Amino acid sequence: MSVDLTTEIAGLKLKNPVTVASGTFGSKDEYAKYVKYEKLGAIVTKTVTVKPRKGNPMPRIWETPSGMLNAIGLQNKGINDFIENKIPYFVKIKTHLIVNIAGESIAEFVSLAKRLDPEKSVSALELNISCPNVKKGLAFCAKPESAYEVVKAVKEATRLPLFTKLSPETHDFLGVAEAVIRAGTDALSLINTIRGMAVDIEKMRPQIANIFGGLSGPAIRPIALRYLYEIKTHFQIPVMAMGGIRSAQDALEFLITGAHLVAVGTANFINPKATMEVLEGIEAYLKRKGFHSIGGIRGALKVKGDSAEPPVPAG
Ligand SMILES: Cc1cc2nc3c(=O)[nH]c(=O)nc-3n(C[C@H](O)[C@H](O)[C@H](O)COP(=O)(O)O)c2cc1C
Repeated sequence: MSVDLTTEIAGLKLKNPVTVASGTFGSKDEYAKYVKYEKLGAIVTKTVTVKPRKGNPMPRIWETPSGMLNAIGLQNKGINDFIENKIPYFVKIKTHLIVNIAGESIAEFVSLAKRLDPEKSVSALELNISCPNVKKGLAFCAKPESAYEVVKAVKEATRLPLFTKLSPETHDFLGVAEAVIRAGTDALSLINTIRGMAVDIEKMRPQIANIFGGLSGPAIRPIALRYLYEIKTHFQIPVMAMGGIRSAQDALEFLITGAHLVAVGTANFINPKATMEVLEGIEAYLKRKGFHSIGGIRGALKVKGDSAEPPVPAG
């Protein structure tokens, strides 16, 4: 029995629902010896900014129980290098390219969108309005008004579908989600990392030079799932879900809760073939359960007392 893994999101038709989380899959061909890129439903790039960024001082990575802290600080070579040197590489790869962008101002977001708009190999933009590791990184997603303004401005500047990446680090998560949906985002990406810290007790210093780092990996999976569930309970927006996905079982939890796409992040550092294992495992699960398509399980979560009020959102 063959199963149909094709997935539609934000007007894009993807061959399957498996992708990678921004910043965890190199910036070009680093994973190509482990993964056939065209087997992925889409590739999401590391955040691209207007100017090159060196990132934060070292140390900026620390392993934690079931996860890691990172404070890379959006290190990248900037939009000119991306268009000159990265795009020509991705043009040859037959899958969707979702370019993650971040600006320090609305004008920067708009200028990045306008630079990428004419690029035929770019399928969509992911707006990183939720990076916890740079000054003002969380500014846009902290409040519904600022989140609305940036998404609205980018929407007006480009034909490309928009994924808006949110963080739980706001006091009004559902308010921010509602605002970016109203501003015209085509999908949400959930979740970015959550700030944490660790201490070197010998040196009596933080393990991360930046003091805080974003926590990712299996440690945040239950939190990511909860936010996905809250979004699916309140809105009809498709979601690219991420947060601690390292196996098919993990990915299936998100798909059953209602995600259209699942992105493998931190797991790529431990197992560079994780995406392929996730993909094979999803297909095997669908066959075993007798589903003909991925649509059969999306949002199939059975909640006792379905008609009851949704749980009170936290925060
Ligand atoms: C080392 C590292 C770098 C990251 N860089 C970015 C980035 O450039 N842009 C972005 O939007 N998210 C970035 N993220 C966040 C991931 O895309 C993802 O949202 C988060 O790590 C949760 O997924 P995971 O637990 O599977 O890693 C980064 C995460 C890690 C661990």
